[in-house]
Amino acid sequence: MRSPPDGGDCGAGGDAEDGRPRVCSRDVYAGTVRLFEQIVSGYGIEIEYVDTSDLKAVEAAMRPNTKLVHIETPSNPLMVLTDIAAVAKIAHAVGAEVSVDNTFLSPALQSPLALGADIVMHSTTKYLNGHSDGLGGR
Ligand SMILES: Cc1ncc(COP(=O)(O)O)c(C=O)c1O
Repeated sequence: MRSPPDGGDCGAGGDAEDGRPRVCSRDVYAGTVRLFEQIVSGYGIEIEYVDTSDLKAVEAAMRPNTKLVHIETPSNPLMVLTDIAAVAKIAHAVGAEVSVDNTFLSPALQSPLALGADIVMHSTTKYLNGHSDGLGGR
């Protein structure tokens, strides 16, 4: 098995070799799908893409060992809305964490952590910065 890259614990690295499945919103930024399909799945990790605006579908996708539910709300490109608090409740019930790509609303308009999410990310080249001339990350 390859060594995982130093990508933290949100699915791309860290303990990515634990084999626990991940769930991801069906409509997400294409780069997120590339990360999951070209890197994360290379560690033998199953990623199920679910319409997370449908809470029954989220519930149905949960397994006892699900590690992470990654949502993007509103989503790119279709502006699909997901109820962060409801998904957090469903995910936490099986011990999974919730990560939210909060790019489209920015922290000014939506606070995923206050709604129960565990991890939040923003593209700093979009509304957070406004000019596409700021880069963020580690
Ligand atoms: C929702 C979302 N997340 C992340 C990104 C990636 O942004 P960046 O190019 O700043 O890394 C984008 C870019 O379009 C996006 O729309």
